[in-house]
Amino acid sequence: MKLFIDTANLEEIKKACSYGVLDGVTTNPTLLSREGSDPIEQLKKIVEVVDGPVSAEVTSLKKEEMVKEAGGLAKIASNIVIKVPCTTEGLAATKELSLTGVKTNLTLCFSASQALLVAKAGATFVSPFVGRLDDISAEGMDLVSDIKVIYDNFKINTEIIVASIRHPIHFLEAARIGADIATVPFAVIEKLMKHPLTDIGIERFMADWDKLKKQLNKE
Ligand code: E4P
Repeated sequence: MKLFIDTANLEEIKKACSYGVLDGVTTNPTLLSREGSDPIEQLKKIVEVVDGPVSAEVTSLKKEEMVKEAGGLAKIASNIVIKVPCTTEGLAATKELSLTGVKTNLTLCFSASQALLVAKAGATFVSPFVGRLDDISAEGMDLVSDIKVIYDNFKINTEIIVASIRHPIHFLEAARIGADIATVPFAVIEKLMKHPLTDIGIERFMADWDKLKKQLNKE
């Protein structure tokens, strides 16, 4: 499973990149607004750091405007992927963009039927939002399982990005289901490698090593 980071923060992206396991970035208008700088300039800085796909979202709601906005975003760099919402207008925009070779990530996906239709329209990626479903007492991961079954049934190439991840169990379940990608906030990436027994183990090894060095120095 590929790992994307879900942020527009350059420091977080650089740090995650330095771990050597980062495959891409997803941003959205909320994440970009948190950075407080011009979003296009921020995206330019992000693509300088990351080789893999970097999702940038359109903010228009009508097909023609979405396509126009996508054209501008796609000019930033060849690894920009256009995030389009799962609406009928978004579907039509996706069809047109896919015919011109522009990569798309269909965002705010909350049902398997949305996922099937966006795949038919030629979406490169689909992003089911698991955390936001969990928030309303629906099983977010059930949606990912359904999409996986449907995509496998019809040998669909659209890649599933598990989005709106809130904790390491979401990441683990995404991998168990066989999702193609998980897009994970920086704080959760850090938690994926954290284990108290690893920390205790290091502490003990260091203490024993110091003890041995002191003993040897005495001899
Ligand atoms: C994914 O592409 C979205 O940017 C993101 O995962 C949304 O997460 P949230 O529900 O925590 O805002």
